[in-house]
Amino acid sequence: MSAAQAVAVLLDPKANHEPVAAYEALHAHGPIVQVADGYYFVSGYEAVAGVLRDPSTEAYDARRLDQQWSDWRENRAVEIFADSMLRTNPPQHTRMRRLAAGVFTARRVAALRDVITAQVEEALDALPPEGDLVTHLTYPLPIGVITALLGVPAEDRGRFRRLAEALTAVLEVRWTAEDRRLAHEAALELEDYFTHLLAQRRAEPREDLVTALAAAHDADGGQLTAAELMANLTLLLVAGFETTTNLLSNGIVLMLEHGNKIDDPAAYVEEVLRFDSPVQLTERYTSKKTLVGGVEVPADAELVLLLGAANRDPARFTDPGVFDPGRTGNAPLSFGAGAHYCLGAPLARLEAQITLPALARRFPGLTPQGKPVRRPRMNLRGWSSVPVTLEGSV
Ligand code: HEM
Repeated sequence: MSAAQAVAVLLDPKANHEPVAAYEALHAHGPIVQVADGYYFVSGYEAVAGVLRDPSTEAYDARRLDQQWSDWRENRAVEIFADSMLRTNPPQHTRMRRLAAGVFTARRVAALRDVITAQVEEALDALPPEGDLVTHLTYPLPIGVITALLGVPAEDRGRFRRLAEALTAVLEVRWTAEDRRLAHEAALELEDYFTHLLAQRRAEPREDLVTALAAAHDADGGQLTAAELMANLTLLLVAGFETTTNLLSNGIVLMLEHGNKIDDPAAYVEEVLRFDSPVQLTERYTSKKTLVGGVEVPADAELVLLLGAANRDPARFTDPGVFDPGRTGNAPLSFGAGAHYCLGAPLARLEAQITLPALARRFPGLTPQGKPVRRPRMNLRGWSSVPVTLEGSV
């Protein structure tokens, strides 16, 4: 495959959910390829890491959206991401990030270990003898954990899978008019949901993140605007489970393929993150002429950073196409790097490090029952169903 053919595969929503061969072709070409005027794909590990850590590069923010798409504010899903920390730049990003990091501390996450362990055991107890692990485990578990942390009532959990699937379509490299419409409707529904929840928490404050973020908005000289409050609540909820679901399902499918045995949970999860990255790409813009992977890129260029490709760069990883949980010096870019490094990385890792070994231990005879089905997405990469039987385990 040539580099041009690889780019065509990655831009085709019908083909880009199987990107590995295209990544290999890009690696043979070099760390960066120009796709169009001012538009590049970056696949080399050092080049991607360098762009993410370069403070002169910018996230895809409202200013860039204005330049590309005059009526983007008519799509509420696009607008919500643009108002959140994910798609803002300093000084807004620094302010929001500091605030969220203040409530989302390492200590608060570590304290969740017992809650997560209890939720995993409960989910494993309830598994049917035959069924789909996406429905019965990899969705309900991360939804249960993030809603507990945010303070979203347990009885509302059922709606979030559909809403998150629809909303996150706008994070793909290409989307259809139908994706756009469903994403917009999902954003409106979530907004309505959080408007009611915020009113309840203001009336009766609790020890949860919804109350803490509302207080940050309401305080004198409020640190968050109303739009930012809504956007970051939505981001935390959706980013908090949609990606973790994919990490769990990718890990389970690899476990089924490689024998249900996990010696070192932390190393195992790092290798799942590298080999089958739950987030395959993000974007940055250059604010000035910049050298990327040895190529001079002009100011205001759009760089699609292929995290999943960087994690399979043969210049960085020996035998990148081999799943090897014993790999040393493994440092995948799956959670990004630099100023926007994933705020939830410790939580996602903890959930996977508890869930995957618990599943392997509890059901040593876990066997696939038919083929797992890939989600029809490139960026948020996971499985829509992983049918298994527990037979022989209990
Ligand atoms: C940012 C991946 C789980 C919240 C990011 C970024 C990546 C990522 C790649 C950086 C995007 C960029 O630089 O443009 C993942 C993966 C996860 C995961 C692979 C699971 C396996 C979570 C969880 C939460 C979360 C559990 C919250 C509870 C966030 C937030 C940001 C972010 C708030 C934006 C940070 C900022 O812009 O400063 N995530 N994430 N993520 N993630 Fe995650």
